[in-house]
Amino acid sequence: MREHPSERIDFRSDTVTQPTKAMRDAMMSAPVGDDVLGDDPTVIALQERMATMFDKEAALFVPSGTMSNAIALRTHTVPGDEIVCDKTAHIYRYEGGGYAALCGASIALVDGEKSLMTPEQVKRAIRKAEGSGSHYPNGSLVCVENTTNLGGGSCYDQATFDQIAILAKANDCKTHIDGARIFNAAIATGVDVATMCKHYDSVSVCLSKGLGAPVGSVLIGSSSFIARAHRWRKLFGGGWRQAGMLAAAGMHALDHHVERLAEDHQRATTIAKALDGMNAFSVDMSTVQTNMVYVECTKPAIEIASELQKNGVDVFDISPTHIRIVVHLHITDDDVNAFIALCKQLFDS
Ligand SMILES: Cc1ncc(COP(=O)(O)O)c(C=O)c1O
Repeated sequence: MREHPSERIDFRSDTVTQPTKAMRDAMMSAPVGDDVLGDDPTVIALQERMATMFDKEAALFVPSGTMSNAIALRTHTVPGDEIVCDKTAHIYRYEGGGYAALCGASIALVDGEKSLMTPEQVKRAIRKAEGSGSHYPNGSLVCVENTTNLGGGSCYDQATFDQIAILAKANDCKTHIDGARIFNAAIATGVDVATMCKHYDSVSVCLSKGLGAPVGSVLIGSSSFIARAHRWRKLFGGGWRQAGMLAAAGMHALDHHVERLAEDHQRATTIAKALDGMNAFSVDMSTVQTNMVYVECTKPAIEIASELQKNGVDVFDISPTHIRIVVHLHITDDDVNAFIALCKQLFDS
């Protein structure tokens, strides 16, 4: 699928995806209401559909993945609590310190291998106020990302994923999944999302990344959790009115853009193998499981990104040594072949 208004090949992120013509048509014809008053039929339909898909009681449609995580963190914790997550987690790195500013929580970082935590590491990171002579904060929430963004799009194996949640519960902690790209994980592992999230209290899912909706995330959990989350959504300014036009994009994405993620994964693997075979680059192929490729460069990454940019290709230099390539619904096989040929010509002669 291309349907992109630009001739550039944009590998910066799957967030650059634009609504397709069919998605725009679905948005235009969506019945809407006032979601703050709770009567937008398309929002209600999306929330019910997501709750059913994930086999949880309820769901809440919100403007962004960051807000969805912030609401979840705030709903699960009280000030003085501590949240356990990997050191590369999006909630820690890229959400403006919301855990501190909005929740009054501290973070206990886990040094996961390629962003994937083990149950033992999580156990060691949980600190409890009780029994510490009031020295420690209260570790009350474990947050897991799947797929892992800075882990190169890699996924948890289901046994480890389950064990982390079971271990967290045994230690009196709530559990939240930052599932911005959880459908990529489901397609890559063959585990359906309900099974994947079975042991977790809440999951945040982005519609505006690989699924191609322009806006929107959905927070999913028990009825009582979502009822409390509803208040925090309002308080954070996320109560919205005729949001059904956006929910319709999400419904369309669920109908048409989930299974096709396998194509993105295939194209990412093709790119990863080709670049790994060039002297200028190397790729840790073990992390290439979904739609991302983190590429180590022998030249400064900023120079590689700039050369590519001059030749119509956009990538992020994610660190001084690495560029990141993300495949999504506007990237075709022709784009992949053109990009590989360009890399050979520019960097591998
Ligand atoms: C893993 C992860 N979580 C959360 C988010 C936040 O989503 P948003 O950009 O919609 O706030 C992102 C965004 O890229 C992400 O990669």
